[in-house]
Amino acid sequence: MADHTPAPRRAAPDGDAGIIAAATAARDLAYAPYSRFLVGAAVRTDDGAVHAGCNVENAAYPEGICAEASALAAMVMAGGRRVTEVAVVGAGDQLCTPCGGCRQKIREFGGAGTRVLVCGPEGLRKEFTLGELLPESFGPDNLA
Ligand code: THU
Repeated sequence: MADHTPAPRRAAPDGDAGIIAAATAARDLAYAPYSRFLVGAAVRTDDGAVHAGCNVENAAYPEGICAEASALAAMVMAGGRRVTEVAVVGAGDQLCTPCGGCRQKIREFGGAGTRVLVCGPEGLRKEFTLGELLPESFGPDNLA
């Protein structure tokens, strides 16, 4: 049976520098030939491990995946299950906030208190909680 208990919020020894650096490095690897909008993401789990991903687009446009989904897949492959922080790095004048689908994907492994660090290439732009981005969410516990 999966453990759906929300992860405790605990500061990383390096603050948020490590997770933001991981997401920034992942952005450099993004495969986004169609939108040319490069995105990197990283998730930190309750054991302190950080897993990164980038967006991977496809000639069949709807088949592309977001950086957050890519990072979560890497986390699951490494055995991680409880997300405490997410960092997303995009560019441009606007905030690169996670899309609706990714908010739900993060919800699967996080809770209302999960921190979402929205960044640009220069660093942190704005911090949210998942509860702010996805209020009254439906998660694993709703199936109980
Ligand atoms: N994208 C992400 O990977 N994450 C976000 O938070 C926003 C958007 C990607 C999807 C697509 O490859 C490109 O950015 C333009 O939407």
